[in-house]
Amino acid sequence: MRKKLVIGVALVCVFLLAICQSTGRQVGPQNDLGRVLILYYTWSEHGNTENAARIIQGLTNAQMVKVEPATPFPELNTNEFIAWGRGQRENRSWPEIKDLGVDPASYDFIFIGTPVWYGDVSFPIETLLLNTDFGGRPVACFAMANSNERDVLSLFNSKVRNGQVREGIAFRMQDETEVESKITQWVRGLY
Ligand SMILES: Cc1cc2nc3c(=O)[nH]c(=O)nc-3n(C[C@H](O)[C@H](O)[C@H](O)COP(=O)(O)O)c2cc1C
Repeated sequence: MRKKLVIGVALVCVFLLAICQSTGRQVGPQNDLGRVLILYYTWSEHGNTENAARIIQGLTNAQMVKVEPATPFPELNTNEFIAWGRGQRENRSWPEIKDLGVDPASYDFIFIGTPVWYGDVSFPIETLLLNTDFGGRPVACFAMANSNERDVLSLFNSKVRNGQVREGIAFRMQDETEVESKITQWVRGLY
């Protein structure tokens, strides 16, 4: 009798576990983050930030919007562009950006992606953060560096206006081989 009871309880547990796994929290188009928006900028020919944004979109079914300067940046090679940008940064000469076409505050969760520029966010994202009131929504940064992300995440966090800052993630692309799995793990941790 006791043995039957134990087997019965075990079967019920297995059954409940199976139900939890099939209906429980999952990273996928039906996610727990609600309506998700990804705002991102990407500059290099590799499109590192855009690639990361696409991975997050695949996990969350988010709407993806590229933040673009209203006037295109000068067409320079990377070294020239870095030298040009240094002057812009010293003067805090941030570019105007095109209208986003969406209101970030109307989403339940906002991801913001940026390449790391001079250890900080890229200029279009700087402008975005200056211009945007996030309406108290959760905001999380993903940042793509080459070799040193420095303080990009804390700088980003300090610039978010009226948003609940969530833990961000930064990658050093020069030694990064597991972007997809790390992003997946990170997004799961945000639920
Ligand atoms: C203007 C400029 C400044 C940069 N500053 C840094 C930096 O401070 N640290 C770093 O590791 N990489 C720096 N990089 C490299 C980019 O952050 C890196 O290549 C990034 O992955 C590019 O992302 P993207 O492909 O989305 O543009 C800089 C690149 C540019 C163009």
